[in-house]
Amino acid sequence: MLVGMQDVHATDFPLTRTVETGSWLGRDHQGKGIGTLMRQMAISFAFDELDAVACESGYIVGNEASRAVSRKAGYVENGQRTLVQQTRQGPVRAQEQRVIVTPDAVVRPAERVVVEGAEELRRFLSIER
Ligand SMILES: CC(C)(COP(=O)(O)OP(=O)(O)OC[C@H]1O[C@@H](n2cnc3c(N)ncnc32)[C@H](O)[C@@H]1OP(=O)(O)O)[C@@H](O)C(=O)NCCC(=O)NCCS
Repeated sequence: MLVGMQDVHATDFPLTRTVETGSWLGRDHQGKGIGTLMRQMAISFAFDELDAVACESGYIVGNEASRAVSRKAGYVENGQRTLVQQTRQGPVRAQEQRVIVTPDAVVRPAERVVVEGAEELRRFLSIER
């Protein structure tokens, strides 16, 4: 069943070793722990399989669910910036709280996670170990 999406993206990752994540869930699937689990899985994958040194993210100030997910995954605050948010009423100015987590602070999923195909992905992304 499709419940939402979790992305992991980066620019020049082999050099920066830093990824950015974003996510959303359909309304029926929010508030059940899925957002926390998928973020913890995505960033643990980045640290453990892609040798990332930092994962960054951000949420619009006031988005308490997203703030809670970041806190529960081990992120700390990393400054704020002003951006334009697309809403149903059109674009509006908004304040984004930036957050960052490093390998020493990450909170991994409680469930056991099995990863397949990581070696091929590392080769594809030119990640040297
Ligand atoms: C943000 C989002 C991905 C979080 O996923 P989720 O599955 O709903 O979150 P979880 O069920 O894992 O809950 C995480 C924590 O948020 C808390 N939380 C959820 N809604 C909250 C609210 N309105 N106020 C305060 N805390 C809230 C939960 O209590 C939980 O903390 P706890 O386990 O300590 O009680 C999801 O709600 C979503 O897609 N929202 C709409 C799109 C969006 O905002 N995307 C993020 C853009 S940065």
